[in-house]
Amino acid sequence: MSGYFTEDSSAAVVNGRTAGTANPRVAELMTSLVKHLHAFAKETGLTQEEWEQAIAFLTATGQKCSGERQEFILLSDVLGFSMLVDAINNRRPESATENTVFGPFHVAGAPVREMGETISLDGKGESCRFEGRVIDLDGKPVEGARIDVWSDNADGFYSVQQPDEQPKWNNRGIFVTGPDGAYNFTGIKPVSYPIPEDGPVGDMLKALGRHAWRPAHMHFLITAPGFEKLVTHTFVEGDPYLTSDAVFGVKESLVAPFERIDGDTLWRSRYDFILTPASQSLTIAD
Ligand code: BEZ
Ligand code: FE
Repeated sequence: MSGYFTEDSSAAVVNGRTAGTANPRVAELMTSLVKHLHAFAKETGLTQEEWEQAIAFLTATGQKCSGERQEFILLSDVLGFSMLVDAINNRRPESATENTVFGPFHVAGAPVREMGETISLDGKGESCRFEGRVIDLDGKPVEGARIDVWSDNADGFYSVQQPDEQPKWNNRGIFVTGPDGAYNFTGIKPVSYPIPEDGPVGDMLKALGRHAWRPAHMHFLITAPGFEKLVTHTFVEGDPYLTSDAVFGVKESLVAPFERIDGDTLWRSRYDFILTPASQSLTIAD
């Protein structure tokens, strides 16, 4: 639509300016965004002060970002948007292991460790053996799978959050499966922790009466030739935050058993990861 901008015609007039020379996908995304954004302002009767507050909030969100901190991704996470995009882009056969949010605390280049080695280097926390297999949809072992793992320490912090306090690569490592697809390593039983709350996203959570906690989990990034990348966690069964994760990352299938073994001196968590062949992910049309 061309012509003068009015309250009624606002979205159509703005979208009418998009030229036919625009990249079709950019045009599609922006047309839809304008439509929904204008509808939001109309539906809520957005005031001038509220608009100014929103601009100030987004400005503060940008200013909080640095090489180590991505406040916009955190905003996307707490709005459930990261998990929605992840779900849309990782539709898998029912038996395959589900994805969940990647999070900001992965560090590339962790040491490759021998099976059975420990990743906990600070001597804190309750020891826990993680074990299981990486298998395909038919239950056959996947050889050569790289299992990159990371967790918080017993105080609820990742090593990147405390570079001066924790040993380098504390609670991190990469394990590569052999012909049996099996893995095992020792870490700690992870603890629940709050996502960073000292920025605009934390303020927003407080204004909404929401808590910032994530249920305890171990992160896994699993890659293997011929299979889709799996970005997931296993969650500690019984954690009080399983049904109120601040970033909506919990899927029931990812809640793992944690049992005491060896006369109560050690925990054990068994979990098998089922990879999807690269060709078998379900497209949006499916
Ligand atoms: C995490 O699990 O490490 C995480 C995920 C999303 C936001 C913050 C932390
Ligand atoms: Fe985490």
